[in-house]
Amino acid sequence: MARFVGKTIVVTGSGKQKGLGQGILQRFVDEGANCVVSDIAIDAEAEAVAEELRARGAKVATIACDVSDPAQCNALVENTVAAMGSADIFVNNAGIGFMMKPMLEVDPKDWATVIAVNLSGAFYCTQAAAKAMIAAGKGGRIINIASQAAKTGFPHLPAYVSSKHGMVGLTRASAVELGAHGITVNAVCPNHVTTGLGAQQNEYFSKLLGFDTVEAYLKNMAAKNPMGRPGLPSDTAAACAWLASDDAFYVTGEAINVSGGEEMH
Ligand SMILES: NC(=O)c1ccc[n+]([C@@H]2O[C@H](COP(=O)([O-])OP(=O)(O)OC[C@H]3O[C@@H](n4cnc5c(N)ncnc54)[C@H](O)[C@@H]3O)[C@@H](O)[C@H]2O)c1
Repeated sequence: MARFVGKTIVVTGSGKQKGLGQGILQRFVDEGANCVVSDIAIDAEAEAVAEELRARGAKVATIACDVSDPAQCNALVENTVAAMGSADIFVNNAGIGFMMKPMLEVDPKDWATVIAVNLSGAFYCTQAAAKAMIAAGKGGRIINIASQAAKTGFPHLPAYVSSKHGMVGLTRASAVELGAHGITVNAVCPNHVTTGLGAQQNEYFSKLLGFDTVEAYLKNMAAKNPMGRPGLPSDTAAACAWLASDDAFYVTGEAINVSGGEEMH
């Protein structure tokens, strides 16, 4: 399929190998999109992610953006339009999920950091992307990578869980106002995926829950999943591709579980 020829997709926090952001970009590039790899820093790993995408045939720009800074979010979108001509699909993917602590011990600074990146960052970028999409007059797609933690509570992740629930609110509030401009806004809620962030959670939760090894923890997770395995970046990427396609034009304000049936509401 070549559903995204002539379109540019921007994914925040996409500079890590095996991350969800990289998986999303690979899927869109394979369907014809050009893309922007963005992360808090464009380091050697992010350059390697970009180079692999170029090898798949895409025009690729790399733009550093700390999403907790609204000025950098505006600059990300402006520089995208300058370099690529448009910002048609914007994915809020940057996130912090590795600050795990019992709720009663969470430092206010850690709370503020997670909210600043996961929730405020998505808001700043949504605002910047929507302004550019409205100015271009061609509609657009905004996709928020929320989480299973947007639908249910998890221990030792109070700021993360709160930020992801907040992302669903942001999705709905934005969808209501941006529909008039032909812009849809949806959230994708993946279950566990063993990315860099996911691997740190595996280490922590396997110990917390008393498993002898990370492998035993993952085996138990797979056994409890109706589809028999944890998530993969390609599962989330496929949902994003559908949401960004013409087929999903009439779908907005949704928070779609991509969890093999682990989450059903
Ligand atoms: N891995 C999972 O199990 C899982 C499940 C559900 C949702 N998610 C969400 O998916 C998204 C991607 O996570 P991932 O698992 O691919 O992990 P990851 O660590 O590979 O990706 C997170 C990215 O965010 C970037 N980032 C952190 N702070 C930033 C900032 N201030 N500005 C810009 N970028 C910043 C990191 O550098 C990194 O590239 C996150 O929002 C995460 O919450 C992950």
